[in-house]
Amino acid sequence: MSSLKVSPAANDFRSDTFTTPTPSMLAAMANASFGDDVYQEDHITTEFQREIARLTGMEDALFTLSGTMGNQLGVRVQLNQPPHSVLCDYRAHVYAEEGSGLAALSQAMVTAVHPANGIYLTLDDVERWVTLGDDIHTAPTKVISLEVTTGGVLTPMEEIKKISEFAHAHDIKVHCDGARLWNASAATGYSLADYCQYFDTVSMCVSKGLGAPIGGVLASTKSNIKRARWLRKQLGGGIRQAGVLTAPAMVALNEVWPTMKDTHEKTKKLEKDLAALGVVPQIPVDTNFYFIDANKSNLDMGILLEQCEKFNVKLMDERISLHHQISDEAIESLKAAIAAAVQITKTLPPDHVSKAVSGGYNITSKMNEYS
Ligand SMILES: Cc1ncc(COP(=O)(O)O)c(C=O)c1O
Repeated sequence: MSSLKVSPAANDFRSDTFTTPTPSMLAAMANASFGDDVYQEDHITTEFQREIARLTGMEDALFTLSGTMGNQLGVRVQLNQPPHSVLCDYRAHVYAEEGSGLAALSQAMVTAVHPANGIYLTLDDVERWVTLGDDIHTAPTKVISLEVTTGGVLTPMEEIKKISEFAHAHDIKVHCDGARLWNASAATGYSLADYCQYFDTVSMCVSKGLGAPIGGVLASTKSNIKRARWLRKQLGGGIRQAGVLTAPAMVALNEVWPTMKDTHEKTKKLEKDLAALGVVPQIPVDTNFYFIDANKSNLDMGILLEQCEKFNVKLMDERISLHHQISDEAIESLKAAIAAAVQITKTLPPDHVSKAVSGGYNITSKMNEYS
């Protein structure tokens, strides 16, 4: 494990995507099977997909080149002919951050909902905004997409269950953008299958908290996965020697996923330590993200980013993201940078305008500028 600590990503708090392949991932790539996965002849890829199907309790799974590809395929396989619409949180990656994929690939209208609690969608939100029936003026809701987690915050299992039961009672499918479902499972102790029982399609990323270099995976029924494989090919996502990608993903599953609880504990500890400096988060710190509330913390973000450079830690804005390669030393340096920025902010004249960020970052409108 010590080799992980010397990763160039050890001081990179910008996102959990900023990790580097571990030595065992690189070794697995070198020793991968090299079959052609377009013909489904690559052993490691088949094994990886089987393992995901087993873990999620789904019938089948398909490796995808990115989380975006998994999301778009997951929604598209459940839609047929417009008019139809997808209901999701207005910040949802599948809608706000995927290059209008729902419009371009699924010809779908989107009902983008602002959660009443400001944090995650509830059944009340869904009931208020869902489009049911056959009024010819409308685009009926055919898929509800939930992101687990959003901004690192957990959607309670009970809420997922209620939304899923409501959806299925109205012949609506439920997609999970589970880019960080690994984190949700590590944080709550629920298995992937516990979550996935409420979804028809689930897309997960292997290149975020899991730390693999490339990819995602879509899990669903055999018939949905068969169709997704076809549509993946159409998008140019048929992969020849896919083993070089799925072998490190398998290592990530076996070696990095078990460390995620520890990453979450470090994030919680950071929350406590920052509270002692008068720094508070915008939203609950449930997993591996901490969003600084710059306004409430009286913290000038421009100054903070300058201090981060000085203390040799990478941050791009109010989101502090922890992952398995972040070192304890880097956490100490980050805290020192924040403490220094708090002190310097106190000395600023009242009319000072930050160079980098002029005001508090607002999770409810800006969260998805990040991936
Ligand atoms: C919640 C969420 N879903 C999906 C994605 C898409 O993943 P990728 O960058 O692999 O396309 C991201 C990452 O940016 C994400 O944060």
